[in-house]
Amino acid sequence: MIKKGSKILANQIKHTKVVLVGDGAVGSSYAFAMMQQQVADELVIVDIQQDHIKGDALDLEDVQPFTSPLDVHAGSYADAGDADLVVITAGVPRKPGETRLDLVNKNMKILESIVTPVVDSGFKGTFIVSANPVDVLTAATQRLSGFPKNRVIGTGTSLDSSRWQVALAHKLNVDLRSVNADILGEHGDSEFAAYSAATVDGQPLLDVAKKAGVSQAELEQLEQETRTKGGSIIKLKGATFYGVATSLMTLSRAVLHNENIVLPVGAPVDGQYGLSDMYIGTPALINENGIAKVLEVPLTDEEQAKMVASAKQLKQVLDDAMN
Ligand code: LAC
Repeated sequence: MIKKGSKILANQIKHTKVVLVGDGAVGSSYAFAMMQQQVADELVIVDIQQDHIKGDALDLEDVQPFTSPLDVHAGSYADAGDADLVVITAGVPRKPGETRLDLVNKNMKILESIVTPVVDSGFKGTFIVSANPVDVLTAATQRLSGFPKNRVIGTGTSLDSSRWQVALAHKLNVDLRSVNADILGEHGDSEFAAYSAATVDGQPLLDVAKKAGVSQAELEQLEQETRTKGGSIIKLKGATFYGVATSLMTLSRAVLHNENIVLPVGAPVDGQYGLSDMYIGTPALINENGIAKVLEVPLTDEEQAKMVASAKQLKQVLDDAMN
């Protein structure tokens, strides 16, 4: 895939097409982000609410003259036939107090009703999934579609890692871009911070925190606030959408523009952390092949035990949901 703006003949530029399934708050925020960042050439919006997708496409096309010539329109699953990406945000969102895993049965049914017609359309691209519980639904998308594992990506702990970086930057009073720190495991209550591998300005996070007078207990409090931040936002405004929508846009760009960048995602582990046959939050190399390589963060024994515990819980929910 050739980036826009490259000095090459127009007929050598591949037309990039994305089908967004689910035009709720996350879906329409994603569409808006895609328009702002000029990530693709065509964006098709699919949802059971026909009037809503038509209205959203009309509203979004008014963005074009300001930012991007991205062709946005309402469509159907048949549009996936020649698409590069299918992005699935459709699902029932969490209510205050609900966990992501509570949503599994309802959202699994919705997922099945999406994956089957997308596959029937002849789709040959990459799925990106953010509907919750995302790790379970990403694995289910791969199993239901029969797609190669690298062509199904979950948002995983992408948003959690971003929340963790924001929290650390505020606490340590450093520039956000100097913080390199990931949250691993489930996108949910069993996720955890990989402290031992985290750095700030290239220095170990734990050394930087100590020098700044921030105790381990304070870091753990921050980690807990990161873990529950989605729920805190839902309590305040009923939903979360900008963060995950931007994570989806970033993943879409990495695939469509063949960026070859490492991002925390929901990835198909195959031996990493001693795990297999499931999707879980870990960094991975993303390019036009989807997940080009799943990376294993070096963990302490204690962190490794947290990864295994998180995986065990996810595997149980996945197995129950698939049977
Ligand atoms: C959140 C949703 C995307 O954490 O699960 O905001």
